[in-house]
Amino acid sequence: MKVLLLGSGGREHALAWKIAQSSILDELYIAPGNAGTRQFGKNIPISPIDFDAVKLFVLENNIEMVVVGPEEPLVLGIYDFFIADPDLYKIPVIGPSKYGAQLEGSKDFAKAFMNRHSIPTAKYATFTIDNLEEGLTFLKNMKSPYVLKADGLAAGKGVLIIHDLDEAQAELKSMLQHEKFGEASKKVVIEQFLDGIELSVFIVTDGHSFKLLPEAKDYKRIGEGDTGPNTGGMGAISPVPFADAAFMDKVHNRIIVPTVKGLKSEGIVYKGFVFFGLICVKGDPYVIEYNCRMGDPETEVVIPRLKSDILDLFEGIASNTLSERDIQFIDKSAATVMMVAGGYPDVYEKGKQIYGLNSVVDSLVFHAGTIADGPSVLTSGGRVLAVTSYGKNIEVAIEKAYEAVSKISFEGAYYRKDLGQDVLSQK
Ligand code: AMP
Ligand code: GLY
Repeated sequence: MKVLLLGSGGREHALAWKIAQSSILDELYIAPGNAGTRQFGKNIPISPIDFDAVKLFVLENNIEMVVVGPEEPLVLGIYDFFIADPDLYKIPVIGPSKYGAQLEGSKDFAKAFMNRHSIPTAKYATFTIDNLEEGLTFLKNMKSPYVLKADGLAAGKGVLIIHDLDEAQAELKSMLQHEKFGEASKKVVIEQFLDGIELSVFIVTDGHSFKLLPEAKDYKRIGEGDTGPNTGGMGAISPVPFADAAFMDKVHNRIIVPTVKGLKSEGIVYKGFVFFGLICVKGDPYVIEYNCRMGDPETEVVIPRLKSDILDLFEGIASNTLSERDIQFIDKSAATVMMVAGGYPDVYEKGKQIYGLNSVVDSLVFHAGTIADGPSVLTSGGRVLAVTSYGKNIEVAIEKAYEAVSKISFEGAYYRKDLGQDVLSQK
């Protein structure tokens, strides 16, 4: 099979690594890819949201499947673009329809969907400029902290958690009146604050049945002890110690099954990954958010634990035969440490030479923000490398990941040294 993978981050490097191991792969292309993905296929300088360029490439190169990494092309409707085109409609796209991608693309859509299907989530209300006054009163009647969410995609920055009422009201005004997050904050969801510990759960679905992937916990804050600003993710572990069988049963029955059934009963076309951002409150799972794609850095810790052929699963998705496919996992824990550029998530420098990549032997180094410069590899983003190691348990996996990280260097490199400590100290 000839496969085109869209995206350029650590998630796509991990997917490329896994797709390249498939017995049914003939050729892999990555658009645009990064310095890491070129080890496993051919990087193509095409933007994943330039659908016309994607079409041209797919037709000229007889691509037989398109796997979509990031959310943006999905939310913009790449699935529908293929289905509507007489030359493309037979080529499967792994990802949801534009309508289904609203699970991530619109917080209001996701909340209403959850309410329709009695899926546990924080209580909420949605406001626009037309009922701003009601929104301000709604905030006054809620307890601190206040959770304000821009309805649309806002590059991971659209959620505000605010302790002071005046400040929350000012932010609501700024989002609705002054479009603080542009189009994305024309609607704002205000919701109840849930106090608990987060984890990420993933499935693949063909719209009828689903397969559960290993769960993961990612570390979002830049600073140790979960302090400082949010980032795209500073690392992850899998499995998650507190996600025991009893908890995962609740996730299955209360969240995953009603979600897949809900999509089907509403006729929503969904063929791809569902990422459930969950929070465990006193032993019960609630949905914080849905994403219509895999997580990053969660992919870098979850996909290495998948034993089965990923293209076989994708084929099952494309042909509505996922229920007949076998899914197996590697019986080891994994940990991913993200190495980032000094200054990230604020201002940081790019173009720093990375040393030591070849000295890592027993770990996986996924490139997140890198660019090739002849034989050298330079940093090209805030999150630079995701270093993943296996272990017989989380402790060993984490230790090995840090050992591998210590062999790699670039000017200004930073990483969190406390990954996993929060959940391990609970045990
Ligand atoms: P989201 O983009 O919806 O995942 O939100 C970003 C982050 O904000 C989440 O990962 C949580 O840490 C936090 N968050 C979002 N909603 C809530 C909530 N209702 N209660 C507590 N924390 C929340
Ligand atoms: N790690 C969170 C995300 O991918 O959105």
